[in-house]
Amino acid sequence: MTSHSQGKRSSRKEPLLPPKGTRDLVGNEYLNYQGFAEKAAEIALYYGFKPVETPILEHEEVFTSGLSSATDIVGKEMYTLRTKGSDRLALRPEGTAPLVRAYLSEGMQALPQPVMAYYYGPYFRHDNPQRGRYREFRQFGLEVMGSPKSIYDALIVRLCVTILGEAGIKNPCVEVNSLGCKECREGYRRELSSYYRKHAKEVCAECRERLKSNPLRVLDCKNPKCAPIKESAPESIAYLCTECKKHFKEFMEYLDEMDVTYRINGSLVRGLDYYSRTVFEIISGDSAEEGAESGSALALGGGGRYDYLARALGSKKDVPAMGASLGVDRILLSPSYTPLHPRIIKKPEIFFIQLGFDAKLRSFQVTEILRKARIPIAHSLGKDSLGTQLGIAEKMDVPYCIILGQKEVIDGTVIVRTMANRSQDTVKLEKLPEYLKHLKR
Ligand code: HAM
Repeated sequence: MTSHSQGKRSSRKEPLLPPKGTRDLVGNEYLNYQGFAEKAAEIALYYGFKPVETPILEHEEVFTSGLSSATDIVGKEMYTLRTKGSDRLALRPEGTAPLVRAYLSEGMQALPQPVMAYYYGPYFRHDNPQRGRYREFRQFGLEVMGSPKSIYDALIVRLCVTILGEAGIKNPCVEVNSLGCKECREGYRRELSSYYRKHAKEVCAECRERLKSNPLRVLDCKNPKCAPIKESAPESIAYLCTECKKHFKEFMEYLDEMDVTYRINGSLVRGLDYYSRTVFEIISGDSAEEGAESGSALALGGGGRYDYLARALGSKKDVPAMGASLGVDRILLSPSYTPLHPRIIKKPEIFFIQLGFDAKLRSFQVTEILRKARIPIAHSLGKDSLGTQLGIAEKMDVPYCIILGQKEVIDGTVIVRTMANRSQDTVKLEKLPEYLKHLKR
């Protein structure tokens, strides 16, 4: 990660930096992201999720209808723009509303239900950048659209924990809660509002504001002044109707059976307001400890059920759905994160040396033969001398070199050199893949 102060350059001679809160992914850092995304996709595909990619730009109303403007990511943090044709567009701040928009506009209701989708890509929130909080960040998400069944709620949590485990995060803290359905949540909202109104003088100005615009969000307040009030506030699970209670209980039974350790957090409401019933958040074991000290544990991922979102986006009927997103940047920053290598990166065990102009001309043909045979090689096509190229091969510690010189070009052969004992074999070009596959590695 770049540590320079981003966003501005003081004089014209300095190079332009990426905008504040965004960064370039270069070299190993890029590969780490790719490795994570590939592993997460492999797990998602195994469980029947299919990839979906939605545009980075959406009509603003996908978010203003799906989430109210009282939600911070819409009201305060969304990047919006007006096009030359006067469309109001937004850089997507999250992936769930776009997925539901795509489910509806692509006619996915007509497919066998539920539709299980996964996605990976950049999201944008105009927040104050700090460690683990960026203006451009990457999420890997899973969504199950078209089923109210609690087993999907548990499967989503389980898969998030599994993916984190593959990335080295072994003991994540999973917090769960249920916000209830339309009916029982109303009763709870009334109780919570009336409780907070009684304590209006003791809480911060933001809580008083939230009490008017989005009462459940008072429970998201991190201000120490409000902590005692929050601690004694009524909890949503005490107000669940029989059906929601059953759903929550089943969800936890599945989690037990799936070996997921979790704890109920009665004040977990999440920052987005499309949720109903199940909500959950995952904090890494390391950052839970760090955060407990500093009061700043950052979630590695979170999600929940959003049974009413489709209707808010224009569907004639509700589409019960459940999903989650993992914050990939935060996962890669976790102390226990262990890099996952992308599939395309195989350490080459053969270095290709070419000598002279004719060999350079032929080198592409040789490389293509080996690429098609899936034999990874390294080379340095800009170099000319044998000594320099052998030197690079030695530094790379490859066991074999292929040498192509003037004579070999004429004969349609190459020399295969074993680096350890300097022995050499001349091999016909068409036999080369077979020959290399049988070499000792
Ligand atoms: P979210 O909790 O807003 O949920 O974001 C999910 C994860 O994205 C967070 O837990 C965090 O790891 C990461 N994240 C969020 N903001 C930032 C940021 N500024 N910088 C770095 N990482 C960040 C959602 O976005 C929902 N769409 C999740 C969901 C899917 N619910 C149902 N389905």
